[in-house]
Amino acid sequence: MIIAIDGPAASGKGTLARRVADALDYAYLDTGLLYRATGRKVLDLGYDPEDAIAAVEAAEKLVAADLDRDDLRSEEVGTAASKVAAIPKVRAVLLDFQRNLAAHPPGGKRGAILDGRDIGTVVCPDAPIKFYLTASVGERAGRRFKQLQEKNTAVIYERVLKELEERDARDSARDVAPLKPAIDAIHIDTDRLNANAVFDAVMAHITTHMRGDD
Ligand code: DC
Repeated sequence: MIIAIDGPAASGKGTLARRVADALDYAYLDTGLLYRATGRKVLDLGYDPEDAIAAVEAAEKLVAADLDRDDLRSEEVGTAASKVAAIPKVRAVLLDFQRNLAAHPPGGKRGAILDGRDIGTVVCPDAPIKFYLTASVGERAGRRFKQLQEKNTAVIYERVLKELEERDARDSARDVAPLKPAIDAIHIDTDRLNANAVFDAVMAHITTHMRGDD
């Protein structure tokens, strides 16, 4: 069983996917981490994340430890991830890893949950359950701003908003695997829903599907 959760940056899909994976005892893959780790490597080597040769090489050389770094969550790395993600060959290099994990969830788990931008459309188009989480960019920027403040990061709301708008535009406009809902995805607008309400809605859909009466 594969469950796909897609949506724009800061739509709450990571928190949701982790919670659903725990509840179902499924494996979980945050596919954004693959792009973040690639972007981080390119920055560390002093290259521009839009440099296709450097980005492809970084993606090809990714190892598990690169995904465990604790410096992948910054906005700087998010932007670099979004830039390397627009390079078709980088996406091709990372595709097999994602599909393989979905097909063979580690730890003998019965299923996998993948979250990202193109899980329902490209990585796992046959996933039987797909969600597309949305929220207005203002709402998402507000949430991200609060998270950064809680971590005592010096942060300016207008900057967070601008970075999210730029990332949305780049992730949606790229030629290969752009951010967009699969035609069979269940849309959930989280503007007026808290994390618990989103989780309950998603679990209700999954339970209905698993009972086979949807
Ligand atoms: O989900 P995230 O914010 O950690 O993702 C970082 C960037 O990686 C995002 O702006 C675009 C890219 N990405 C992608 O292109 N495809 C995915 N499946 C996941 C992330």
